[in-house]
Amino acid sequence: MMRGSGGRTLAGLALAALLVGAASGQGIPPAERRSGFDQMAPETRAMQADETANPGMLWVEDGAELFTRLPSPGAPACAGCHTEATMRGVAARYPAWDEATARPVDLEGRINLCRTRHQAATPLPREGRDLLGLTAYLGHLSRGLPLAPPEDSRLAPARAEGKTLFETPIGQLGFSCAGCHDAHWGRRLGAATIPQGHPNGYPLYRLEWQGLGSLERRLRNCLAGMRAEPFGPGSAEAVALTLYLMQRAAPLAVESPAVRP
Ligand code: HEC
Ligand code: HEC
Repeated sequence: MMRGSGGRTLAGLALAALLVGAASGQGIPPAERRSGFDQMAPETRAMQADETANPGMLWVEDGAELFTRLPSPGAPACAGCHTEATMRGVAARYPAWDEATARPVDLEGRINLCRTRHQAATPLPREGRDLLGLTAYLGHLSRGLPLAPPEDSRLAPARAEGKTLFETPIGQLGFSCAGCHDAHWGRRLGAATIPQGHPNGYPLYRLEWQGLGSLERRLRNCLAGMRAEPFGPGSAEAVALTLYLMQRAAPLAVESPAVRP
């Protein structure tokens, strides 16, 4: 079996001709927004819904433990400054504006700012077990809440840049994200059904990965299928695209940690 990317199904298909070029730019109206959850097989949905069967809960438990652990002797734990109650709902509204650096940051970036700014610690590597655990833990605290992207005008330029990225053909095959996820969601593409492409389940457990992965990892899979360059981890482009994806998905509920095929 071929593994590792959306690329297994994306190239060389009859549907490809339909996907080339820019889409209309109108997006999917809020009432028609559907989570990728809705397209999954019943047993995969059951695995996501049942927290005793959802493998992503192992990362949530790791994250809960890290949240209370001192990063080094004398430095405060996350729990020294935050409680579960104050962290509930946070994952539903990221990326958000960071005052000090005057730029939008995603949830992973926010956690790392607390590491460097408030814990005298080093940033955690993206896709490493610790950052995935903390992000899954915070995501889980928002599980079931509707996505609530901030109406902060300082975010507008990056969000607009994300929309442009979503709608512009990129990569050697001439595909745009919108060409699949706005214009052709619900259609079969090889073994997969094209979802609307929402970010509300991340970080999530993907059966194909046999592990938990971030939204950026999912985007790398789609970019590889498009024969396009991946974004740098935590890059301005990736955060801009995430800002747009969150707005495009609201008011779907946070599902972290979701399960996907
Ligand atoms: C010494 C206190 C302190 C510690 C320790 C700390 N933070 Fe923070 N955190 C803050 C402050 C203050 C802010 C507000 C933004 C700022 O000033 O940096 C914040 C903001 C946040 C936010 C955004 C909240 C929002 O409403 O937007 C998250 C999420 C967060 N912290 C997570 C963490 C995690 C996870 C850890 C541990 C890895 C941690 N913090 C450690 C003080 C702390
Ligand atoms: C050629 C069609 C195609 C293109 C172009 C494409 N994707 Fe995807 N995308 C898919 C398919 C198919 C899946 C589901 C894969 C699976 O289940 O194996 C997916 C999954 C996703 C998901 C995960 C949804 C969930 O419910 O977990 C997101 C988010 C996403 N895509 C965003 C994007 C973005 C952003 C772009 C542009 C950078 C993009 N995609 C480009 C076909 C595409």
